[in-house]
Amino acid sequence: MDPLDRINQLREQIRHHENCYYALHAPEISDEQFDTLLHELEQLEVEHPDLVTPDSPTQRVAGRPTEGFATVEHIAPMLSLGNAYNEAELRAFDERVRKGAGLGDGPVPYVAELKIDGLSIALTYEGGRLVRGATRGDGVRGEDVTANVRTIRPIPLILKKGPEGRVEIRGELFIPRASFARINKDREADGEPLFANPRNAAAGTMRNLDPSLVAKRGLGAFTYQLVMDGPAAPPTHSAMLETLRGWGLPVERHYTSCASIHEAVAFCHSWADGRQALEFDTDGVVVKVDDLALRGRLGTTSKFPRWATAFKFPAQQAHTTLLRIAVNVGRTGANTPYAVLDPVLLAGSTISMATLHNAEDIARKDLREGDTVVIEKAGDVIPRVVSPIISLRPEDARSWVMPATCAECGSELRRDEAEVVWRCENTSCPARLRRSLEHFASRSAMNIEGLGESLVDQLIAQGLVHDFGDLYRLDGSQLEILVVAPKAPRSERAVSRKLGKVGRNVAEQIDRSRQNDLSRLVYALGIRHVGEKAAATLARHLRSMDAILDSPLEALQTIPEVGPVVAASVRAFADESRNRALVTKLARAGVNMASLQPPMDGGAPGPLAGRTFVLTGTLLTMTREEATDAVERLGGKVSGSVSRKTHYLVAGAEAGSKLEKARTLGVAILDEDEFKRLII
Ligand code: IVH
Repeated sequence: MDPLDRINQLREQIRHHENCYYALHAPEISDEQFDTLLHELEQLEVEHPDLVTPDSPTQRVAGRPTEGFATVEHIAPMLSLGNAYNEAELRAFDERVRKGAGLGDGPVPYVAELKIDGLSIALTYEGGRLVRGATRGDGVRGEDVTANVRTIRPIPLILKKGPEGRVEIRGELFIPRASFARINKDREADGEPLFANPRNAAAGTMRNLDPSLVAKRGLGAFTYQLVMDGPAAPPTHSAMLETLRGWGLPVERHYTSCASIHEAVAFCHSWADGRQALEFDTDGVVVKVDDLALRGRLGTTSKFPRWATAFKFPAQQAHTTLLRIAVNVGRTGANTPYAVLDPVLLAGSTISMATLHNAEDIARKDLREGDTVVIEKAGDVIPRVVSPIISLRPEDARSWVMPATCAECGSELRRDEAEVVWRCENTSCPARLRRSLEHFASRSAMNIEGLGESLVDQLIAQGLVHDFGDLYRLDGSQLEILVVAPKAPRSERAVSRKLGKVGRNVAEQIDRSRQNDLSRLVYALGIRHVGEKAAATLARHLRSMDAILDSPLEALQTIPEVGPVVAASVRAFADESRNRALVTKLARAGVNMASLQPPMDGGAPGPLAGRTFVLTGTLLTMTREEATDAVERLGGKVSGSVSRKTHYLVAGAEAGSKLEKARTLGVAILDEDEFKRLII
């Protein structure tokens, strides 16, 4: 057969099988058979490079990592959805629809769909070929993530019976639960921070500039909207979904046409528990008016369509046994009780622990060890114990009293009059050291990437680190030989895997952190009540570590925005000889002890002097801290909320209400590129 014919035949077959597998969930051949086809095509394309086309199934990852994402404008705003939290609110939505459409009492047909917990995507096809993929961004403008979208297998590069012109299709990208578990296991083994939930993992993945990495993450996609006018447009939402499916696009298969709101309500109830069995996370049901002409009449508000609402599932609850109450020790020595539970499946994960806040809370809820308790999980929030089930209380259930001594080192616990927290005051308590080191290395403090929980544990266990200063004595080879011991080892290989390259990177990161601005170091020391902002103010006013530690209480209190509590806490820290010795050790290790920022008064005012900025959304090429540093270095101020006094709003990806407010108030809005031009 002519190579071109065979290539075309193979492409046709591969596209067909991709559609069967990813969109229809009905594979017709085995994975091996599929790989054989793909391999043959790859081989032929190597032999005939002139026959390679960009839409060949082999070309999902092409080119090198991008420098950044371009901003693109959506053809129509990508809106959000109003919410309904119970049946009454769903009926109220139906009422509004009927009133808005002047329908009286007659039933309105709806389509009920699962609400996919991922991130929205707008796909543009031209002549049936995928030409663009864009994130929602602020709803009006998003990021061009075409190179990343092309790697997502359920999204066809060519539509089956594609429409002639240009169409936009919208849907949701997500990470299936199985891929999520795999990604986090790999990250744990590599000492990288874990993603909190599949939605964050999907959003983080799409922000990646390297498409080959995106390809490995196994993203899924469902489409639910075709933005199209004219006579060829389908008349109903259900017809639209079938059109999308007919074009080879993935459509979530559980959607149902409902003759009236009653059926939609029943659909919502049926999925509250049923959703656990799905391969992906869903946080509700979207109820949409089926008739598209009626939708047009209903229109939208500035934020939501009037023809759809999102029914949100209630927080999921489960019953289990409270085996015992244990105590965790934090960085400041706070001893916090938590519940050890008989492991139970809740919202797709096994829960064996839950927060309990403090001893008062336990007493107020009358929780006893041995009780059957109700636990609850809403979104990605850590599970909490709601209440005991008194009728199931065993006779030997034990009341709990807060221990008088530290759970880690046995020192006596103290608490201030005004506080509910019991603290261990032993500064060499191992638990405090562990948490302090994690804080010291964290992103807003010294920003030592890779120095996370498991590495810190090992450094302490092996006696290599007793305080912050010891970090700067470590060398690359010591870190390199440390062995990662994942909590749930995947294989022998994972257990015995050497930190190797990761170790060397951490060593470089530690070295780099010597150059940090003083404000980071002040925050990293973990002085009580000294948060990021207070640390920055102290550093900019007093200019050096010595000046901070030697300033009398009165002098500290005269600094704007430093209150009596912060001032007293800094003094108490400085008066402790152990702390002084620690700072000296850090200075000897070459850690910068001076402010690198322009002085607060005196000196030339920066080019942004008198300008107030508000940052919102996610910036792609810098962290919030870096953006704040940059504004402040140039004399500007960063504030947390938008008001008439705000000069600029910097809007990153997924900007929300602050952006709306800035628009209403007529505040100048900068996207990331514009902002960067201002600070360079
Ligand atoms: S329809 C005009 N259908 O939920 C709004 N949205 O909370 C059209 N989402 O931004 C959205 N599953 O990203 C629709 N089946 C579904 C959905 C869905 C997930 C997301 C979408 C939207 C967000 C609103």
